[in-house]
Amino acid sequence: MVITNLIKKKFVFLLFFTLLATVIFIRRYGSTYPKSLLYPKSMESCPRSVSKESITPLKNTKHFLVSAFMDQRVQGFDIRLIGMFRRDSIQELHCFFCCADYTSETTPTKVLQHSDNFGFPFVTTDIMCRIPKKCNATHVTLLTKPKPEKRVDWLPIRNKKTNGGAEERMDFTVCISNLFGDYNNVLQFAQTLEMYRLLGVNRVVIYNTSCGPDLDRLLRSYSQEGFVEIVSWPIDKYMNPSPGWYFSDFGGDIHYFGQLTTLNECIYRSMERSCYVLLNDIDEIIMPYQHDNLKSLMDELQKQHPNVGVFLIENHIFPKHRFEPSGRFHLPKWSGVPGINILEHVYREDPDRKIYHPYKMIVQPRMVEQTSVHEVLQFFGQKFKVPLDVCRIVHVRVALRKLLKLEELKVDKRLWDFQEKLIPHVDKVLENLGFLQ
Ligand SMILES: *[C@@H]1O[C@H](CO)[C@@H](O)[C@H](O)[C@H]1NC(C)=O
Ligand SMILES: *[C@@H]1O[C@H](CO)[C@@H](O)[C@H](O)[C@H]1NC(C)=O
Repeated sequence: MVITNLIKKKFVFLLFFTLLATVIFIRRYGSTYPKSLLYPKSMESCPRSVSKESITPLKNTKHFLVSAFMDQRVQGFDIRLIGMFRRDSIQELHCFFCCADYTSETTPTKVLQHSDNFGFPFVTTDIMCRIPKKCNATHVTLLTKPKPEKRVDWLPIRNKKTNGGAEERMDFTVCISNLFGDYNNVLQFAQTLEMYRLLGVNRVVIYNTSCGPDLDRLLRSYSQEGFVEIVSWPIDKYMNPSPGWYFSDFGGDIHYFGQLTTLNECIYRSMERSCYVLLNDIDEIIMPYQHDNLKSLMDELQKQHPNVGVFLIENHIFPKHRFEPSGRFHLPKWSGVPGINILEHVYREDPDRKIYHPYKMIVQPRMVEQTSVHEVLQFFGQKFKVPLDVCRIVHVRVALRKLLKLEELKVDKRLWDFQEKLIPHVDKVLENLGFLQ
């Protein structure tokens, strides 16, 4: 009797202990314990530190990661990471994934430096790799060794196709790279953004390192409304970005505040959500001369050239020191607004055709793999130079051909065709922010 009682007590105790252990195990590893038995060590590190910054230093290297995208357009790869890599320190790297609830083994990578580096130590770099079989990848990072690690900074994988693409696709996104210094050209910026809107642009993406105080206010208001998407771009915290084009002229670590990286990032950011991307500067307007808006322009161009994914648009300078003489749009209410009034500048330089003349681009993002500023570096399909009478860039800035006389400039009042709507739209924005006199 005493003995059986003791056995019973032991049994109850054992049962209790087993239950307790199971509860602890499940609470720690979740209900998917068969998987966690397979990958017991890597379980914990998975969804923890996800990088929320647009620039993430890559551990144990001199490189920086920017974004990771699903990209299955090139055979043999699923993922494209975009980064800024030091050219003198390119090394073997391995992709490491977070697969919904466990971490994967690593997969090999192909590291592709972009061909445009303009002599700077850092270059825009794509890192391509595969997702391991059965892994429902949500995050990725790179490792210097082919074995899993615990503490890593994960990048979310973007452009994963959602069921059926319920999200409506936009027509046009403008990618403006790199706002820096104390740029405070409020009037030109407001006029340009409202011009984009009249032309049918749905979204303007701007990479912000810094800007002037008034422009900051203007941008905040546009970004609250949703027309402008500001991507914070604190590149000056990580390296010495060059304000110029060539290392030999300006020195520094990377070309023009990382413009090439942001343009590429913007194309991938827009790939699943915008039919076309316009790659132009903040003071440039890609202007149709025979159509009312970009949609009808592109419908026609695309019908004529169905295999084209890259449309090259010629840049035309409207010198800012040449004013339209009647003063029709010299509006007193704008006199207290910092910046250029583009409606006052109607004289256009003809480009010097004896020298290289740069283009800007309208691209189908899904046809582009790598881009530079004035041309694409890697792309699918064809490219096409859009005729001048169909579309050109209106670019109000300091004169390029400073020696041209007034009689040698062309009068071009295309912007005025939009003034009836443009002026009230600009007024509304400026008034709300207290800029109007
Ligand atoms: C993959 O993971 C995501 C996020 O955890 C989840 O929403 C999705 O249903 C998963 N897909 C599959 C096929 O398991
Ligand atoms: C741009 O970046 C600077 C520097 O971080 C910041 O002070 C400013 O508020 C930012 N502007 C916008 C509109 O995000």
